[in-house]
Amino acid sequence: MEQDPRLTNATSVKSGDDVAEQTEPRALTITSATANPRMFTLPWSLPLARWSEDLTVNLPRGISRHVVRFVRVGDHVDALKEISFRSATREYEMLRSLEKIDVPSVKPIAVVSGRKNSNGEPLEAILVTEQLKFSLPYRALFARNLRVDTADKLIDALAVLLVRLHLQGFYWGDVSLSNVLFLRDADNFSAVLVDAETGALYSNLTDGQREYDIDLARTNIIGELMDLHSGNLLPSEVDEIEVGNRLADRYHELWDALTGMDSFSTDEMWKIEQRVNRLNELGFDVDELEMTATEDGNRINVRPRVVDAGYASNKLLRLTGLDVQENQARRLLNDLDAYRTSTWRQGEELEVVATDWMREIFEPTVRRIPTEYRQFIEPAQFFYEVLQHRWEMSGKVGHDVSMPEATDDYIEEKLAEYEIDPEAIQSILDEADSGVMDDYDDYNPDEDPDAAVWASE
Ligand SMILES: Nc1ncnc2c1ncn2[C@@H]1O[C@H](COP(=O)(O)OP(=O)(O)O)[C@@H](O)[C@H]1O
Ligand SMILES: [Mg+2]
Repeated sequence: MEQDPRLTNATSVKSGDDVAEQTEPRALTITSATANPRMFTLPWSLPLARWSEDLTVNLPRGISRHVVRFVRVGDHVDALKEISFRSATREYEMLRSLEKIDVPSVKPIAVVSGRKNSNGEPLEAILVTEQLKFSLPYRALFARNLRVDTADKLIDALAVLLVRLHLQGFYWGDVSLSNVLFLRDADNFSAVLVDAETGALYSNLTDGQREYDIDLARTNIIGELMDLHSGNLLPSEVDEIEVGNRLADRYHELWDALTGMDSFSTDEMWKIEQRVNRLNELGFDVDELEMTATEDGNRINVRPRVVDAGYASNKLLRLTGLDVQENQARRLLNDLDAYRTSTWRQGEELEVVATDWMREIFEPTVRRIPTEYRQFIEPAQFFYEVLQHRWEMSGKVGHDVSMPEATDDYIEEKLAEYEIDPEAIQSILDEADSGVMDDYDDYNPDEDPDAAVWASE
C-alpha cells in the first residue's frame, strides 16, 4: 500500500480483530477491516475541529459531546469522531459485533490512533464510521415544515429499534434522539443506532436492564423535546411528557407481542397462524414456534421465536435485489402485486413478474429523479412518494393517471420538500457543536507549520 509521503511516521495498517485491550500505539496506526489507502492522505496531525472546509462535507449532524466531522474519502463520505483511544476501540468493536448480528447501526470503518501534532504532542484517537446515506438527525427533521405527528412517528421508530436491540441482548445505556439517525420509510421513519459508546452485549437482558434503557430514553426524549420547544421548533400541540410516555408504551406493546406466551385450547390451533400473521404485520419474521402442552393436555402454550424485523424487506430483496426499509418494501410489494394483477399474470412465478416490474415500472420511475435531488431522496422513497401522488391525482381527476405523468407532476409540485437548504444545515451544525468539549480549543494553528500546508491545498 502506498503511503502519503507527508506522513513519515505512519507505520502500519492493521487488519485487526481484538484491539480492545491494547495500549495506544505510539505511531500513527489505522486499524481497519477494510483499509482504504486514501485514509493515509488525511491530515491526522491536526485536531479534527481544525480540518479545512475543503475536506469536510456539510451534512446535518446531531448534538454531540465529541468533535464529529463528515469527510469525503474517495467516492464516499465517512463520519469521524475524535475520542479517547479506549472509547474508540471499544465503540469500534461494539459496532462490529452489532454489524454481525445485523441490527440497524452505523458501519464501523476504522480506528485511527497514535496521532501527534507537529510538536509531537499526542492527539486523541478517531473513530471512523461510514456516513449513513439519506439519514437525518432528529433536529434536521424538526427544522422543516413539520407535521404534528412527526414526533410520534420518530418515537415509534425508536421503540422498534430498542426492541430489536434488546431482543439481541444489546444494552444501550444511552438511548436518546441524539444517538439515533432516522431514515424516511414510506410515511414513517426507521431508526438506526449511531452512538454505541456506552453499549454492552449480553446473551440475554434482564427486565431491569431493559427497563433502565426505557426509562433513560423517556427522560432524554422529554429533555430533547423541551429544548426544541424553547427554540420554537416544536408544534405547540405536542406534549413532551406524552411523547416520552409513548416510547415506553410502544416498547412494551411490541415487546409483549413479540415475546409473550399465548395459550390455546387444542381446537383453537388456527389462532397460532393469526399470531404469526400479526407478527409479520408488525414487520417481524418468525423462525419457529415453541409449543408445549399443559400437563392435562387440554391446552397448548405457544411462544414464537422471532428472528428479526424485515419481513417485507427480506421478501422484496429476494425478489428484486432492492434493499429498502420495511414500510417502503411493503408499498413496493403492493405495487408489484397490482402490476401482476393488471397484466393478468397471476399464474406466473412471482420472480419472473418482479423482474419485468423492475424493468418496466420501478427503474424508469426512479431514473427521473433530477440529479440535484439524488443526494436527498432514496430511490425507493421517491417511488413510494410517486405512488402516493398518483393515487391523490387520480382521485382528483376521476381516472387513472399514468406513472410517468404522476412522476413529472410529483417532481414539479412536491419533491422540493426533500431538499435541505444550506442555511438550515449550518444552523443545525452550529447547534450540534454547541455541547462539544474540545480539548484543543486553545490550539493555535498559526503556531503549527502543518496547518498552513493543509490549508493551502
Ligand atoms: N456514521 C454516521 N452517519 C451519519 N451521521 C453520523 C455518523 N456518525 C455520527 N453521526 C452524526 O454525529 C452525531 C454525533 O455522533 P455521536 O456518536 O452521538 O457522538 P457523541 O459520542 O459525541 O455523542 C450523531 O448524532 C449523528 O448525527
Ligand atoms: Mg451521542
